[in-house]
Amino acid sequence: MSGGLEQIFSRNRVWSEDVRQRDPEYFSRLSQQQTPEYLWIGCSDSRVPANQIIDLPPGEVFVHRNIANMVVHTDLNCLSVLHYAVHVLRVQHVIVCGHYGCGGIAAAMDNQQHGLIDNWLRHIQDVIRLHRDELDALDSPTDRVDRLCELNVTEQVRNLCQSSVMRRAWEAGIQVAVHGVIYRLEDGLLQDLGVSRNGIEELDA
Ligand code: CO
Repeated sequence: MSGGLEQIFSRNRVWSEDVRQRDPEYFSRLSQQQTPEYLWIGCSDSRVPANQIIDLPPGEVFVHRNIANMVVHTDLNCLSVLHYAVHVLRVQHVIVCGHYGCGGIAAAMDNQQHGLIDNWLRHIQDVIRLHRDELDALDSPTDRVDRLCELNVTEQVRNLCQSSVMRRAWEAGIQVAVHGVIYRLEDGLLQDLGVSRNGIEELDA
């Protein structure tokens, strides 16, 4: 165990040294302020790291991740991140990013018991219920999971738009757009799901 942690520290020292050699002012500059243009709400999956996927350095993207990139109206953690990002940092874009082959989405579909996480997956089962007919019409289990991954992003974008935080921001005239995208592990590419919203008037469009 300690070897594993030691590796963390040694990698960190090498990285810090490396960055300072290329740019001696890097850390002092970054420590002064953060002005990210994006808030990223993504899955906790270790293969979907926000900054790397969109190739942005530290300071450029504010990040919230949980299992299956959910926006739950009673989740104070997510809502606090959203509030801070929109009202204080003034990000211009909030991105919900799902990914194909999501383990959380697959677990929500399999009718098995998984323990504590079942309480979280319950929110995805609400999405399944809303889109039952479309999902049942797909033959392959993989297609069903992948389609649910897309539908889940769309529903989380809807939750985001209906949150008190976004409503208040738009009512106050704050310019911020909400987007839904999906990532494919197999090729590393993001795809726009075409559900972007720029204001409260577009909510039900
Ligand atoms: Co996932």
